[in-house]
Formats: sequence, structure tokens, C-alpha cells
Amino acid sequence: MFELLSEPRKDPILSLSAAYKDDPRTNKLDLGIGVYRNNDGITPVMAAVKAAEQYLLENQPSKAYVGLAGDEIFNEAITHLLLAGTEAEHRAIALQTPGASGALRMLADLIRQTKPDTTVWISDPGYVNHRPIMEAAGLKVRSYPYFDPNTKTLNEAAMLAQFAQLGPDDILLLHGCCHNPTGVDLEFSHWQQIASMSQKQGFLPFIDIAYQGFGDGLEQDLKGLQHVVDQVEEVLITTSCSKNFGLYRERTGAAVLVAKDKQTASKARSRMFEIVRANYTMPPDHGSAIVAHILTTPELKQQWLQELNTMLTRIKGLRTSLRTQFQAKTGEDRFAFFEHHKGMFSVTGLSTEQINRLREEFGIYIVGDSRVNVAGMQEQAIPYLIDSFLAVGA
Ligand SMILES: Cc1ncc(COP(=O)(O)O)c(C=O)c1O
Repeated sequence: MFELLSEPRKDPILSLSAAYKDDPRTNKLDLGIGVYRNNDGITPVMAAVKAAEQYLLENQPSKAYVGLAGDEIFNEAITHLLLAGTEAEHRAIALQTPGASGALRMLADLIRQTKPDTTVWISDPGYVNHRPIMEAAGLKVRSYPYFDPNTKTLNEAAMLAQFAQLGPDDILLLHGCCHNPTGVDLEFSHWQQIASMSQKQGFLPFIDIAYQGFGDGLEQDLKGLQHVVDQVEEVLITTSCSKNFGLYRERTGAAVLVAKDKQTASKARSRMFEIVRANYTMPPDHGSAIVAHILTTPELKQQWLQELNTMLTRIKGLRTSLRTQFQAKTGEDRFAFFEHHKGMFSVTGLSTEQINRLREEFGIYIVGDSRVNVAGMQEQAIPYLIDSFLAVGA
């Protein structure tokens, strides 16, 4: 039967990683896959995570099933991490999921069951998995302009003009911070406009926040999201512990639903249980048990915050180095965008030909949309990177 299947499309990021692994050059650089790396090129297990794992090893009483909602201590802690200080926290429910990806799919299924004709609006460019996940749930997907490749800034006028057209049958999917792939974030004033447009026009904001703590800081990165949840009756949120807890492979995330009151939110939660049951029955436990223990143990939470801050400082430092070293070398400020962008990634505007030359001639691996993973660079590699960029005319 399976010979009937057509040839699958290659995953551009994973095939790039495979080519990188096979490259024998010692000065090669992988700027493709989206993981944080330290200056030794390693994606470390955070010390707070190791300590929580040690605690679980010694104290976890059982590996019996947990339940459809996953770890309720995690659910409460993650809701608090996102919504502390907002009025909306009291009309929100959370469900632990296998990563933010699992949360995106679960909420997409919920939208489809609630209002099958909904159109989900995603940014152009955007996170590669938004469209396939929404479409797999049977939803219509359209994109809104987001990025101006010439200035490497927000295409504000076109974006707001599109938002002005949205109505009650639309869901607006936004990146809470550290936009993937561009690195260009919304200003607080945009979040204010989105909240009032949503109130007037009736569209529902859906905020995917996968990099909380990687932009301006854990609380600062929530400013826009928290404004929207306090102004708008219904908001969907997906969140990830892959990056800020370094738990990538443990598949740890949550879906948060804010409704007009707790009763409505609880009803939605019961429907979410049905979706979970039909998909995977319950999420994996290990990652959420780690996060729950860290967030409810003051000393560990403090340690985690410090480690998160170290990652943030490193990313910002790399962004500044890219700009200043380029300036020192060329006398031009063409790499200023690196410092203005937020989070792990920046879209560089390199052409396909330049990307291919960087890979073939210099062993520098960049995905086809010209996104580079700044958070995966090493400080000592920046001079080579700049020389190579200049050699291909970037
Ligand atoms: C915008 C965005 N949303 C969601 C995810 C999925 O994260 P997770 O590893 O939690 O599934 C990512 C990961 O790259 C992302 O960039």
C-alpha cells in the first residue's frame, strides 16, 4: 500500500543539518537549526534542570499515568509565569502539551471544532510549522505582511492595513516575542492597536510565545501579551519550555486559553481533554515535572533566572559584536539590524546564490530564507563570518 505514497518533501532545516554533519571542514559554521549554543558550541543542560532531575530521581514516587491535563502544578505555574499580575489570570486555563507544537495543534483542533469556517492569519514570513499545523487541523490559512526585506524592519503600514480587514471569523496568530524567523518584534503600541482592533472588529488573538526571556527579559517579553489578555475577552496562547529551560527534546509546553469567564474556560478545557484523548492521551511527564519543581522551589527558580539571563546576555552580546565588528572592518553600519532584532534569529536578506556560496566555499550553513541562528554562533567565529559575508557581497 505504501508504494502509493508520493515522494515526501525534504525538511529544509533537517537536511541542512545532515549536510553540515557530513562536512569535514573544521571551520564550518551551523547557523541553521534553532538551538541555543554556548561559546563552546554546546547546547548545555541548565544547572537548575540538572538539580531538578536529581531531585526527581530521588523523590519521584511513581511513574504511573498522570492524566489528560498532564501535571497540574506545571499548568498552574506556567499560567502564573505568563499571566501574573493580569486580571485575565483568573479566567484562564492551561493544559500541558508536548511542546508548543503540540499546543498549536491542539488549539487548532479546538478552533476547528468550535468554528470550522475560521481563517487563521499567519505572518509572512513566519514560523515554518504554523501553516502545516493549522492546515492539518482543517483550518483555512492566510498570511499577513510582516517584514520589509529592504530595511529588515516591520512592514508596519501593510501589516496594520491587513489587520484592519479582519473580522469575527478570523484568528490572528502573532509571535509573542523574538519573531521566528525575522527577529523583528512588534512594538508595545502595535499590541495596543491589535487589542483595540480585536475589541472593535471581533477577531481573536492567538499568541505563540516560544522564546520568553530571549528578547528583553522574562517579564519585559510579556508586555504585549499581557496587555492583550487584559483588554480582550478571548485569547489563545501557546508557550514552550524548549528554549528558556533548554528542554528541547523533552517536549514541554502548554496551551493557555483565556475566556470571558472561568466557567467558559473550564468548558473549553473539557473539550480540549477530548482532543488530547483522541491524539496522545496524555503529554510526556519528565520535562513538565522539571519545570514545575524549578518554578515552585525558590532557590532553583533563582538559579534558573540567572542562567536564563546569561543566555540572554550572550545573545545580545553576539548581536552587538556582529554590528560593531562589521562596522570596524568596513566603516559601514549595514549590520545594525542584527543589534535591533530580538531573540535567536535574524533574517539577513542574503540571496539564494549568496547562501549557496557561503555553504560551498566557506562551510557556513544558512537556511534558504536567509535566517541565521545568532544564538548558535561563537564569538570567536564572528571575524570569519564577516569576512565570508563580505566575500559573497553581503
Ligand atoms: C514560533 C514558534 N512556535 C513554536 C515552536 C515550537 O516549539 P516546541 O519545541 O515547544 O514545540 C517554535 C520552535 O522553534 C517556534 O519558533
